[in-house]
Amino acid sequence: MTPAVQCHAVTRRFRPETDILREVSLDIAEGEFVSLIGASGCGKTTLLRLIAGLDSPTLGTVRVFGGTPAEACARREVGVAFQRPALVASRTALGNVLLTLEIAGRPDVGAAKELLGDFGLGAALDRFPHQLSGGMQQRVNIACALVHKPRLLVLDEPFGALDELTRETMTEWLAGVWERTRLTTVLVTHSVEEAVLLSDRVVILDRDPGHIAEIVPVTLPRPRNGPSSSTPAFEEAVRHLRSRLRAVVGKGNP
Ligand SMILES: Nc1ncnc2c1ncn2[C@@H]1O[C@H](COP(=O)(O)OP(=O)(O)OP(=O)(O)O)[C@@H](O)[C@H]1O
Ligand SMILES: [Mg+2]
Repeated sequence: MTPAVQCHAVTRRFRPETDILREVSLDIAEGEFVSLIGASGCGKTTLLRLIAGLDSPTLGTVRVFGGTPAEACARREVGVAFQRPALVASRTALGNVLLTLEIAGRPDVGAAKELLGDFGLGAALDRFPHQLSGGMQQRVNIACALVHKPRLLVLDEPFGALDELTRETMTEWLAGVWERTRLTTVLVTHSVEEAVLLSDRVVILDRDPGHIAEIVPVTLPRPRNGPSSSTPAFEEAVRHLRSRLRAVVGKGNP
């Protein structure tokens, strides 16, 4: 089966002689959850933007469902959410989710309400972004990315701006959403626990130039949220990933 995402020898250069990413090759299977982790500035967002069709490689190719990322976006097959919720301040939670559907040419109030209800926001449909907590705003943001039923979800540190407790709750929530949808997902995160809870594979990137240093599979049984996230096996997986990450990021930084 054709992978959902195929990055082949992808290089992204912003200035002559400065490769931000060099020769990155990565296939992501349909239904797989892959996290990208690595030091700040190693090119995680750059790679995500290439996959989401928001930027193009200098060399190499990116394919999404067998075509270009732009074609996949035109077919509404890609949903994207970034660290800062991209909500329209003058629209309610429901209005923001409907906006995505309006742009896709199929406004469906029922679908938007149902999704927000599923996301625990049934009582907040008519609230404006400034009347929502950070966690609620991010849930609306992810609802906007999902409401048109994409085949690929791309998330760049969606919980990075939240406090630790809210972040944990939101990660568990996302794990539950993913268990229900099994949607192909690429997530950028700085959190080892988050990566272990959610991922089938964790891609560790190294910098200067950005490249894949190591890919760590996470073989823990699912679902992993709830009580199973405090088992010895889970803690061992966290320790293992943290030590691999340290080995990569700590190299050359005594
Ligand atoms: N449009 C651009 N023009 C020039 N340089 C850029 C551009 N976008 C990113 N860069 C550079 O590319 C490098 C990687 O940036 P990127 O945002 O991908 O890193 P990151 O791994 O997502 O970092 P963080 O964890 O801090 O979000 C940085 O040095 C950044 O300054
Ligand atoms: Mg980034």
